[in-house]
Amino acid sequence: MERTLITDVITNVAPQTAVTIAGWIRTVRASKGGFSFLNVNDGSCMANLQVVADDKLDNYGTDIAHLTAGCSVVVTGTLVESPAKGQRVELHADRVQVLGLADADTYPIQPKRHTFEFLRTQAHLRVRTNTFGAVARVRSAISFAIHEFFQQRGFFYVNTPIITASDCEGAGEMFRVTTLDPAAPADHSQDFFGQPTFLTVSGQLEGETYACGLGNIYTFGPTFRAENSNTPRHLAEFWMIEPEMAFCDLTGDADLAEDFLKHIFAATLQRCPEDMAFFNERIDKTVLATLEHIIDTPFERITYTQAIELLAAADRKWDYPPHWGADLQTEHERFLTEQTFNRPVIITDYPAAIKPFYMRLSDDGKTVAAMDVLVPKIGEIIGGAQREERLDVLDSRMTAAGLDLDDYWWFRDLRRYGTAPHAGFGLGLERTIQFATGMANIRDVIPYPRTPRSAEF
Ligand code: 4AD
Ligand code: MG
Repeated sequence: MERTLITDVITNVAPQTAVTIAGWIRTVRASKGGFSFLNVNDGSCMANLQVVADDKLDNYGTDIAHLTAGCSVVVTGTLVESPAKGQRVELHADRVQVLGLADADTYPIQPKRHTFEFLRTQAHLRVRTNTFGAVARVRSAISFAIHEFFQQRGFFYVNTPIITASDCEGAGEMFRVTTLDPAAPADHSQDFFGQPTFLTVSGQLEGETYACGLGNIYTFGPTFRAENSNTPRHLAEFWMIEPEMAFCDLTGDADLAEDFLKHIFAATLQRCPEDMAFFNERIDKTVLATLEHIIDTPFERITYTQAIELLAAADRKWDYPPHWGADLQTEHERFLTEQTFNRPVIITDYPAAIKPFYMRLSDDGKTVAAMDVLVPKIGEIIGGAQREERLDVLDSRMTAAGLDLDDYWWFRDLRRYGTAPHAGFGLGLERTIQFATGMANIRDVIPYPRTPRSAEF
């Protein structure tokens, strides 16, 4: 089927041109003068194209007069300058072909405001709304900007395994992968891989092996966490981007993270102006100003110890009173990035005891070369570190974490053969999209959210 995308029709195509478009009806209005106005959306942009269908069309009474929201149509006609406000052109139909009707009594996406809670129950149809169409287009643009950023800098894209036997973050929050009969006692020697396997929580460990050979790499794939966190910022299945750089320290890692976020948000503003204007008007009135501010402002960089001092000195009540050695809670992270600094904050040098085994132990023996990047409203958007490149130190950290060194023999080999300083981080794609769009709940920025007790669709 030859069709022109509505995004091209409304921006590029000259009046008096003959075009064919295809899409889904958003609204219909029949006028007394023997016309129907069909607002058609094909997903290529936020705007609908107004189609004017004359009652002289031979299927007017049989088809066109019965159109309702959700029906699919192919329309051929002539583009004309529109007398109506807010649109450059409209399409005067010579032919309206109805492909699929949508029963008005049962079609869930009626032309009215629906709550996001309701639309989550209709996740297979919610992309046909303004908000979810815009989220999907921004998600695509951000994914492209991520590849673009790394490819422009000579990073190689690496695909790391989704099924794994190792627990990268050491938090034990993994989904099991097995072909064993759930009713029988577990004998992993009989299991598909002959050992316990899981869905990966991170591609980092394998990413490190490729960085220690290719130099600079990045992964971009799905990751899985069986943590029972029912919050607006946690998913059980989410997408993570993990760059890893050989011959790089924590400062270089933080520099890359800052440039990376600025690139993503600048590209989003540049490539999705219509969708971003919508988010700013309808979802979060501060989102454009926030993104512009972030692009223009250097990120603040402080140590964990400084962060604890600032929090302890702050004049406010905490659900979790801050003290050295405790992990930062979202209330602390948001306070620092929203109140104290009003900009993204990179916190470095966390206590070793609250961070994974692979982070490089500092000379003080108490902290590791970790960094978290915090942004307003979300809190942590990036977590990363310079990696422990000394085999003896790594081994003692792994042993302290209760890991079996033999299971990680290949990871330890990197420290045995040509070890080199290296560093990397992980960016959560969905938190990035939340931040860019102002969408409050992470369940609304991924097509089909997986959360505790919910895996529909
Ligand atoms: O801080 P995390 O756990 O870091 C890692 O996994 C490292 N292996 C990354 C690395 O150094 N290569 O996760 C990284 C980011 C977080 O900052 C957050 O943005 C996101 O992943 N994230 C989640 N996003 C949604 N739902 C969850 N349950 C998430 N857990 C982490
Ligand atoms: Mg983290």
